[in-house]
Amino acid sequence: MRDAKTAEITEHYSEVARAASAAETASCECCESDPTHAGEAFSLYAKEVLDELPEGALAASRGCGDPVAKADLRLGERVLDLGSGGGIDALIAARLVGSEGRVYGLDMTPDMVALARENAVQAGIDNVEFIEGSIDDIPLPDSSVDVVLSNCVINLCENKAAVFAEAKRVLAPGGRLVVSDIVAFSPIPEGAEESLAHITGCRRGITSVDSYRTMMASCGFVHCDIEPKTVYTTDVLKEKAERKGRVAALEAALRFEVDSVCGSAIIRGRIPE
Ligand SMILES: C[S@@+](CC[C@H](N)C(=O)[O-])C[C@H]1O[C@@H](n2cnc3c(N)ncnc32)[C@H](O)[C@@H]1O
Repeated sequence: MRDAKTAEITEHYSEVARAASAAETASCECCESDPTHAGEAFSLYAKEVLDELPEGALAASRGCGDPVAKADLRLGERVLDLGSGGGIDALIAARLVGSEGRVYGLDMTPDMVALARENAVQAGIDNVEFIEGSIDDIPLPDSSVDVVLSNCVINLCENKAAVFAEAKRVLAPGGRLVVSDIVAFSPIPEGAEESLAHITGCRRGITSVDSYRTMMASCGFVHCDIEPKTVYTTDVLKEKAERKGRVAALEAALRFEVDSVCGSAIIRGRIPE
């Protein structure tokens, strides 16, 4: 049984998918004043990578980094993308692992899964499969993939520990996890949590790097490494809040010392051979 927050998240990403599919301006809450999400994709990925993808994949892009660029994918590898959205990372990964490799994209929003499938057809990529399901209950067998990717999704999940446990279960020995997400680098002042989460779009709050490390270690990941990507200084928060029309949340957040407490990061871990 889905909780109300999960239903709200699904509804939101259905709207994003439908707008991207219609190649319209996304009229979602997260981008009211930001009609060009495709433009945002160009700030995260190398242009030559995006040039080969359908417009619908770019328009639905809602990541906060480029996990594929950090995953060192090799020909023939099996990859799972958690919360694959319109398919941007799964499609990029599918090209890198070649016809001997296979990529699975998993997403709970049916409209996103439909859009990603449409994008794969348009891109002429057939070593990718988009599956509907929740990332805390992955519908794949044990030890069935070499790499788990995710881009700005785990922050939306209620049970993050279950997501890491499931990622560990489906990874083959020696497998690796490469996740882009929004994290707290230092404690968020009490009273600023909600407004910062609103500005950054983290609908279930912002989790600390220490908490990520603890969850990953307790699930059996080793060599856990968290590399900051964009540190959200006051100026970055201002830019985000203004672009998304969340100035009231910004004013509330700036009553506290929030400069550089959170930001995007690449989270990496391995499981032993
Ligand atoms: C911020 S978007 C990111 C999409 C994609 N990774 C990208 O970079 O464009 C979040 C995506 O995660 C999906 N999602 C959120 N929670 C999920 C869950 N528990 N299980 C599966 N998918 C989930 C949403 O449906 C949405 O497509």
